[in-house]
Amino acid sequence: MALSLFTKTKKTLIERAQDDYATKMRLKYKPYYHAMDSQQGTHIRLQGRDMVMLSSNDYLGLSFHPKVIEACGEGAKAWGSSTTGARISNGSRAYHTALEEKLAAFLGREACHVSVAGYVSCCSAVASFAQKGDLVFADKNIHSCLWDGIRLSMATAERFSHNNPEDLRQVLKSVPHATPKMLVVEGVYSMEGHICSLPELAQIGEDNGCFTVVDDAHGLGVLGRQGRGTVDHFKLNDKVDILCGSMSKSLASTGGFVTGSRELIEYLRTNSKQTLFSAAISPSQAAAASASLDIMQTEPQHLQRLWRNTKRYREMLKGLGLDTWGSETPAVPIVLGSKELVYRFWQALLEKGVFTVMSIAPAVPPGKDLIRTAVSALHSDEDLEKIGAAMAYAVKQM
Ligand SMILES: Cc1ncc(COP(=O)(O)O)c(C=O)c1O
Repeated sequence: MALSLFTKTKKTLIERAQDDYATKMRLKYKPYYHAMDSQQGTHIRLQGRDMVMLSSNDYLGLSFHPKVIEACGEGAKAWGSSTTGARISNGSRAYHTALEEKLAAFLGREACHVSVAGYVSCCSAVASFAQKGDLVFADKNIHSCLWDGIRLSMATAERFSHNNPEDLRQVLKSVPHATPKMLVVEGVYSMEGHICSLPELAQIGEDNGCFTVVDDAHGLGVLGRQGRGTVDHFKLNDKVDILCGSMSKSLASTGGFVTGSRELIEYLRTNSKQTLFSAAISPSQAAAASASLDIMQTEPQHLQRLWRNTKRYREMLKGLGLDTWGSETPAVPIVLGSKELVYRFWQALLEKGVFTVMSIAPAVPPGKDLIRTAVSALHSDEDLEKIGAAMAYAVKQM
């Protein structure tokens, strides 16, 4: 055909995978997918070496709490290993509704729906409510699961500058008033450690008739009374329609949740494909999250220790002249600005027994290539000293 003269020969799907540059680089430099030999709290063993974990999201350090471990075992004993079914059909159990009621009560919301992953929950928190023809106003740094939710909804996405109320106001100025609108933000930004300017953003959203969705995966357990999160921290429950998040961070489990009014959650249960066609969270994972919620309300020492460690760690980084992107939370990036510097810094930390994660563009904005670190309540003073020595060494290698 004549047209084929003008079209470039396309790679087959197999060739595309075989020739993928990013995969080749990943396999060559091996920065990701490290399988640890063992773990005890913040201490891991990797390729025969003892290391301190400085990049997990176990903010409250509950993943090794005896009560959480016991709850996992009890959950499996009572209910088996899996429900092997979706909630709508054969997968709903009393422990799901008990966990949902506990989470909803803790977060001051009417209702909650839990699912197998934070990714699934947060994606569905957007995709279930927005539709083609709607406008979704999204902070440009939101998590990939929220972007996927927007894509699946087929609504039109409008980005605004990261955590910038004035820019949101400007973007909103040019859109028709009658179009249904959604505002999507995170409570705490996972890469940057920034707390959302929620009072201003939610107010602008409300003034413009937006339905507001907050993903608080990194605010839960960290901010607010007993760790109730960013919305509680700002006392803005009445300004947020949907509060979603992950149970794989402070709740020391896996899974995710969407909370809101009963009406909204029942609507999600009817319409969300991610909810309808995916199996329910397993008994042990639900039990772990439930036990963590109890601990958060009865053992304040974990939250106190988390903030004490965070303060100490941030001061240490500041003393070394490192750029932490203005992080205000235990998620602390070390911005180095290029992938070469990030790789050298990361390797130097590894050499000194500190495990961190590199995050390079396009996962972060260009020029913001960084080492992602996160503090845990479980880091001991000795851990922090080891981390300090490793950081000082890494700085010298730059
Ligand atoms: C902001 C945010 N939302 C959602 C998720 C997804 O959570 P999960 O890992 O439990 O699927 C993450 C995970 O990194 C996250 O950072």
